[in-house]
Parts: sequence; structure tokens; C-alpha cells
Amino acid sequence: MKKNVGIIIGIVVVVIAVIAIIFMFTNNGGSVGLDSSIQNEDNKSGNTTLDSDRVLVLYFSETGNTQKLANIISNEVGGDFRRIEPVEAYPTGDALFDYTEEEANSDARPEFKDLDINIDDYDTIFVGYPIWWYQMPMIMYTFFDEYDLSGKTIVPFNTHEGSGDSGTYSDIADLEPDADVLDGLAIRGGDMESDQTETVRNWLEDLGFYE
Ligand SMILES: Cc1cc2nc3c(=O)[nH]c(=O)nc-3n(C[C@H](O)[C@H](O)[C@H](O)COP(=O)(O)O)c2cc1C
Repeated sequence: MKKNVGIIIGIVVVVIAVIAIIFMFTNNGGSVGLDSSIQNEDNKSGNTTLDSDRVLVLYFSETGNTQKLANIISNEVGGDFRRIEPVEAYPTGDALFDYTEEEANSDARPEFKDLDINIDDYDTIFVGYPIWWYQMPMIMYTFFDEYDLSGKTIVPFNTHEGSGDSGTYSDIADLEPDADVLDGLAIRGGDMESDQTETVRNWLEDLGFYE
């Protein structure tokens, strides 16, 4: 009898854990949706001590949270602004989970559209992405494979639903061993529903980017 109770409790705990994990990943309470009015732009002036002629803000975003964060950062630091767009659009809804899990398991390198940049034009590159399956989306690995960021300063940022940066900042340092990777900013996707400008400014201040 006692053994049966133990088994039942075990099953209940596992079921609750699975529901919690699914909820964590799919909690689109936080998803703001991609905003088509947020476009690639060149040479916006910024409010920091960074030379905005030599700054690039680059991001990948599927459901809009990272796009919104990237836009706030871009408004603050200026420079060129680009979205990493997959050549083949990702499936939506539940299919996205199976598709991207397979992509991660097979160590895929999904292609992205031409970014229309010359990487030599930049000294400081802000790079943003969501956490997918506890790591960067595989399309970010394509980016780091294609671009040699040696000698540049990389400033990572990401959105997530509980995993923080999930070790991705040190993954970037491994992928770009001759770049200087600064302390990143990780924000919950759900928190992008409210204005995160102050959070961004505090982070940029900690990095020493204001007078
Ligand atoms: C396929 C998939 C996998 C995810 N995996 C994780 C994860 O491992 N850890 C986590 O904290 N959040 C995970 N999330 C949540 C996203 O990181 C979060 O919703 C993020 O804000 C989405 O950014 P975006 O709107 O810019 O695409 C996942 C979301 C999706 C769609």
C-alpha cells in the first residue's frame, strides 16, 4: 500500500514538472510579437560614449521579445541595426518546438538572409537572441561561423523564460576566442511587456558606456 502511494506521488511530481517545463517554454504571456515597424536602419546616433559610426546592434527574434529589447538598445547606443532573418521561415505554434529541437540535436546551421553589412565597419557589436533549448538558436551559430569577430567587442543580450543567459555568453567567447565579450543582459520575455529602458541604461552604465 505504502509502495503504491509512493509510486502515485512520484507520477504526480513528474506530471507537474513536465507541465511546469512546458509552461515555462510556452509562456507567451511574455511574447510581444514581431513588430514590422521595427526595421533595419543605418547610422542612428546614440546617447553613450560609444562611437555610433562603429556600432552594430544585431538580433534574432522569433516572437518579438528580443526584437523589442534590441530596439531599446539600438535607440540608446545608435549605430547600424540589423535583424537576422532565416531564409526558411520557422514554423509557428507547437511545431516550432519540435522543429528547433531537431535543429539543435542535429547541430544544424540554418541560413539567414544577407545582412547588408561590412563587418570591418564595426568595433562594438551588440548581439541578441532568445534562449532555445538552453542555448542560442542554431541560426546564431551560423552567424558566428560566418563572421570572424576577432579584435571586436561583443556585447551579448538575450531574452528567456527562466534560463537566464544559460551559459551562452561563455559559448560566444568560445566561438569568438579573439573577441572581447562583455557582461550581457538577460531579461525575461514576459518582462518585455513593460518598458525596460531603465534596465538597459543601468546595464550600459555598468559597462561604462556613459560619461
Ligand atoms: C523553441 C523554444 C525553446 C525555448 N527554450 C527555452 C529555454 O530553454 N529556456 C528558457 O528560459 N526559455 C526558453 N524559451 C522561451 C524563449 O527564450 C522566450 O520566450 C524568448 O523571450 C523568446 O524570444 P523572442 O520573442 O525574441 O523569439 C523557448 C522558446 C521557444 C519557442
